[in-house]
Parts: sequence; structure tokens; C-alpha cells
Amino acid sequence: MAMSAVSPASILDKPLIHFGRRVLDRTAPGAPDAEYRFLDVLPLTPHIGAEITGVDLSKPIGEDLAGELRQALLEWKVVFFRDQHDFGPDHHLALAAVWGEPEANPFFPKAETPGVSRLAKDAMAIGNENIWHSDHSFMAAPALGSVLRAVEVPPAGGDTMWADMAVAYDNLSDEMKARIEGLTAEHDWVPTWGSFMTEEQIAGLRKNLPAVQHPVVVRHPQSGRKVLYVNEPFTTQIVGLSDAESQELLSELVLQARIPEFQVRFRWQPDSVAIWDNIAVQHYAINDYYPQRRVMERIAIAGVPLS
Ligand code: SIN
Repeated sequence: MAMSAVSPASILDKPLIHFGRRVLDRTAPGAPDAEYRFLDVLPLTPHIGAEITGVDLSKPIGEDLAGELRQALLEWKVVFFRDQHDFGPDHHLALAAVWGEPEANPFFPKAETPGVSRLAKDAMAIGNENIWHSDHSFMAAPALGSVLRAVEVPPAGGDTMWADMAVAYDNLSDEMKARIEGLTAEHDWVPTWGSFMTEEQIAGLRKNLPAVQHPVVVRHPQSGRKVLYVNEPFTTQIVGLSDAESQELLSELVLQARIPEFQVRFRWQPDSVAIWDNIAVQHYAINDYYPQRRVMERIAIAGVPLS
């Protein structure tokens, strides 16, 4: 992705003005704390991100463990596993299948193993994922999650960050919540991925990938929690507002992912695995390691239309 759909000038005009107390609820109010028998959970922040221990992901995943993995992801929104040295593409596919079907990214190079995308970055192939985004929000049914495995990591740098967008919603002012209630936004891949393409290539892909609309505030399909669902590269317009008003509102909303208390940051090691709930969070791959090499393998999990 080469450019942001929201003009940088309008972002600079709107400095972050929120400070002081944050509301940092991990789960929907009233949801019981989960109990785990088949894995251990080590939280990395009070509300987003937990390391899971006691699990070998190269072994078959029975229904008991699968249920706890789904629960842990719902509760922590992004979960991490370390030292999964025997984890290969088949285990990767089996892990993703705990949540659903693999979904290919239409813009990634064709995968060697169907469903598994290889993201190899170095001085010759600079990564473009260093912008807060939600995978595949430009699709009518955006990916419900992604499973990412570190194959090769730089000696320093190359971390990934995730931001809790339910907490981002909770911390909006009452005035802003009222302003965005019931609004819908357009999401489109053309301003970003299309900037690398010819007009003919865009027209060819357009047939299967029209611009789509999602509510600005969606209900999480499992938890029912309200989630702020606009992101910088793919959300292009708030439906029914003038361009100026839409840009002004979007430029403020997309900044919420940048608030540090909403985030968790993960330092990768070879054979670390992360799984994130792509509706509950946005993520940002830090591009600070060139010319060192970083190789990751990713499976996105097909989602459902949002409401
Ligand atoms: C992505 O945006 O899905 C890639 C994340 C990463 O490489 O850390």
C-alpha cells in the first residue's frame, strides 16, 4: 500500500487531544472470565494480547483445545505462541480451520501452498503494511481473522502492533458516538493497492472487487460488542456526507488506532505464531529493519458480512 486514503494534511490538522483516563474493558461488560484447562494465558496488557503456553501447534487440535483457543482469541483479540519449531503449512492450515476457511488475499503473490501467503521483505521488497488497517475490509465479508507465522526475523525490529477497536469505540466522546451512530462507510482497495497497477489491471480486478459498504460501528459477530470499523488505507468515504465532512470525520476516527493504551506490540522470534481477530483489532507491521530480511507466512480466515 503506497498511500493513505485520508489526506495526511487533514490528519495533522487534528492532533490527538484525548488524554487522561482510558476505559480499557477486555470483554463486553458482564461477560464471565473464561477458565482454561488445555492452555495457559499470559496477558501482555490488561485488555489486548496474550501469550498462550502449554500448546504444541504441530499436534492435532482436538475439539476441547479448539474451543479454548476460540475463547482465548475472543477474550484477548490477539494471541501469541512461541517456539512452534515443528509448525509447517499443514499445521498452519489446521490452526486456521479452528475458526474457518482460508481466504486468499487478491493482491499477494500466488501461494506455494494454497491458502498460505508468503510475505518476504528486505531491501528489494519493502513492506507496505506499516499503516493501521484491518485485513480485507474492502471485501463484502471481511476476513474474520488471520494466522501469521514468523519464518525469518531480523536481528532487531520487525515487530507487529495491534489496536483494540472495541476499546477505541468505548473511548470516543458521547458526542462522537452519537454522531457516527447508524453511519455507513465505503471501503475500497483502489486508492492503495491500485496505486501499483495500470488502469487495465484495476478494471480487470474491479469486476470481482467493487467498492463495498460497512457500518462505521459494527457489532462484533461473536461478542456483540460495538467496534469502530474504519481504517486509514481502505475506508474512503462516509456515505451521505460531503467529501469535506467525510474526510474531516474519517481523519479523526482513524487516529484512534494510534493511541498507545489501545495497543499491544509483539517482538517476533523464528517460529512465533500470532492469531488475531480481524474485526476486533487493526494491526500495523513496523518497517524498521531494512536491509535485513523478514519472512512471514499468513493465512486469512474467511469472514461474514458485518452489521
Ligand atoms: C499484515 O498486515 O497482515 C502483515 C503483518 C506483519 O507482517 O506483521
